[in-house]
Amino acid sequence: MSTLVMRRPDDWHLHLRDGASLEAVLPFSAARFARAIVMPNLAPPVTSTEAALAYRGRILAALPPGARFEPLMTLYLTDATPAAEIERARASGCVLGCKLYPAGATTHSEAGVTEVRRIDPVLARMAELGMVLEVHGEVTDPQVDVFEREARFIDAVLAPLAERHPRLRIVLEHITTRAALDFVLAARDGIAATVTAHHLLMNRNALFAGGLRPHHFCRPVLQAEADRAALMEAVAGGSPRLFLGTDSAPHARAAKETACGCAGIFSAHAGIELYAEAFELAGALGRLEAFASAHGADFYGLPRSGATLTLVREPWEVPARYAFGRDELVPLRAGGRIAWRLAC
Ligand code: DOR
Ligand code: ZN
Repeated sequence: MSTLVMRRPDDWHLHLRDGASLEAVLPFSAARFARAIVMPNLAPPVTSTEAALAYRGRILAALPPGARFEPLMTLYLTDATPAAEIERARASGCVLGCKLYPAGATTHSEAGVTEVRRIDPVLARMAELGMVLEVHGEVTDPQVDVFEREARFIDAVLAPLAERHPRLRIVLEHITTRAALDFVLAARDGIAATVTAHHLLMNRNALFAGGLRPHHFCRPVLQAEADRAALMEAVAGGSPRLFLGTDSAPHARAAKETACGCAGIFSAHAGIELYAEAFELAGALGRLEAFASAHGADFYGLPRSGATLTLVREPWEVPARYAFGRDELVPLRAGGRIAWRLAC
């Protein structure tokens, strides 16, 4: 049995939801991660600093006793976000970035940005104040093939945006393709990407393995094997521009197992363990710590976390379900095994 002692990791992309759902999922993240960038796509979305601070307060109040976990807040950009809101966000000290959801791209993105040039003044203010732009990178045109939407977004929206705002710090979230890797790794300074464990461990065949698998459906969708392999090779290569973001996105079981199911994979129950599996498969366990505990903090200009976390290479069985308020939640790998577990 081997153990892996590492600096406590951070999750640079996490959906915590609110209310009873928040209470159900927060302990999983708090047990593993020192900090998390908390996504603002609640209903209604977190569009103001005031709402972000109130949400932060609810997260802190929902933490299990003794937990050491710091929520790092984000604002949800809309066509109507005023530049003054960016100033308030920056002054709060608790809001690190703003999330760009193209309107209609994913869960609760209806209030997102319809035309990115409309928010250029806001992006300019963000660049001046050193706020990070977190980007959901998919075009929403229904004519565009769902597997092409990330690459199309990079060419049509992100590359021009990065040129118009040369000092804006940008994280392309949950990248899925070689095209995204090529862009991020060759881009100017100040551009990075998060990578999920599910995009490292699964390709799109997982959506159809023996039948339709709604719990493997997320946005952006799982991609071809060549893309998955490229992501694995890239994280194993140790680029400081790539870091951990689980995109753990819980939905009630009934909302996933239905004729038109929600996008989102819940992975916080094994938020670091699944990455340990991926890095082990890539023959790069030695690179896990930098990816999980250093690159993101460095990019955001925060100190690396102080504490440590110990993983044990001992397979465990993932429950078929977890409680989720009055609903239930089907975790990634439900009923299957995960090779690494947290030391008690
Ligand atoms: O699959 C996803 N689920 N992708 C997102 O961008 C949003 C997330 C959610 O909030 O459920
Ligand atoms: Zn997300």
